[in-house]
Amino acid sequence: MKNKLTLSLAALALATTSLAYTPSAEVRQSQEEFAADRFGIFLHWGIYSMFGQGEWYLNYGPKADEYAKAAKGFYPADFDADAWVKAIKGAGARYICFTTRHHDGFSMWHTAQSDYNIVDATPFKRDVLKELSDACQANDVKLHLYYSHIDWTRPDYPWGRTGHTTGRDSTAADWPAYYDFMNRQLTELLTDYGPVRAIWFDGWWDHDSDTIPFDWQLAPQYEMIHRLQPACLVGNNHHQNPYEGEDIQIFERDVPGENTAGYSEQDISRLPLETCQTMNGMWGYKVVDTNYKDTVTLIRYLVKTAGQGANLLLNIGPQPNGELPAAALDHLAGMGRWLEANGETIYGTTSSRLPKAEWGTSTHRGDTTYIHVTDPGVSSITVPWNKKIKKLSAYAEKSRLQYKHSKDSLSIAIPIRADDTPDYIIEVVNR
Ligand code: GLC
Repeated sequence: MKNKLTLSLAALALATTSLAYTPSAEVRQSQEEFAADRFGIFLHWGIYSMFGQGEWYLNYGPKADEYAKAAKGFYPADFDADAWVKAIKGAGARYICFTTRHHDGFSMWHTAQSDYNIVDATPFKRDVLKELSDACQANDVKLHLYYSHIDWTRPDYPWGRTGHTTGRDSTAADWPAYYDFMNRQLTELLTDYGPVRAIWFDGWWDHDSDTIPFDWQLAPQYEMIHRLQPACLVGNNHHQNPYEGEDIQIFERDVPGENTAGYSEQDISRLPLETCQTMNGMWGYKVVDTNYKDTVTLIRYLVKTAGQGANLLLNIGPQPNGELPAAALDHLAGMGRWLEANGETIYGTTSSRLPKAEWGTSTHRGDTTYIHVTDPGVSSITVPWNKKIKKLSAYAEKSRLQYKHSKDSLSIAIPIRADDTPDYIIEVVNR
């Protein structure tokens, strides 16, 4: 009996150790590079862009076979992968995350697993993912791939809580077949498109209300990804605490630590963090959504995200003709100018060590603190500070600023500035 017990305890210990995921050296390196990048651009582009109603359009009425006819008219004549990537790099972003297949089930690369793809189903016949991957490599921009776990078109995808009106047969679910399909697609993505720094999953929540808990079999899928590209990071927009095998933690529409959109009840993990956010209101191109945040707001959001120790993955919904919207290009250029001058205070920094404040945040590198005063109305700040100060100056002007440093508190007077100053940066170097 005792022997049996020892044996089963040993087996249990073995099982638990084999469950625990340890990121490889390659993954750790990617995590470090990812965390230093701080800024990426999300691209939601698919045949849904043609309807101009966002990437969820199929969920709101059309039958999948009727919707699929859009593919026959998809000819984004003005698509220029190099122009996209150059504009994005010009913004100071260091990676893109491209929607290879969204919930509508249309694949934006030449997959052999289904004809419902950009090459076989459209008159355009170009593998846009291949072109993007080449452009990324040529411009030294990292490539991340969004991949939807949901499919509102394929009958084998088990019925979740969305996509009920597309005409899909709810009784034809075949999880093993669908899981296999996804893994074959992921294998293509990780074999034929150069270095992929991350796979970004979405859709887990489609089965969060099942009566019998749904098993997505994430662990073997993650393992396969790491096997195919050992440096590839895995992230999942499930709004839960990270699962084994995940290498980054994603937050949707909120910086870590806030929950204004209702997707962020999860804890903040020790993984590198990313917040995805829209430039206007929608992810996919929406013709009536011209409500873009202005450049100043976007810069402040990037600063705030960096202060929370996270990357900003800022979304653009490219137009059906293949161009990035003019407004988005404008904001990219504006952010690029700002980062050109101030990027040192963002890239490769760590999160704020100062108490949360209304006036802004801080970022850190070594002995240097960058205090970001993003509220233009603030004329002085006081923060806890117990280290000796070697230098305290305005980052842009390099001029010394007036300050009072008592034992553990630092007060700084901040010059008057225009309301559209995105961020007044103070550089403090400790002794
Ligand atoms: C949500 C939406 C999806 C979008 C994603 C981006 O999960 O369902 O359409 O792609 O957020 O974060």
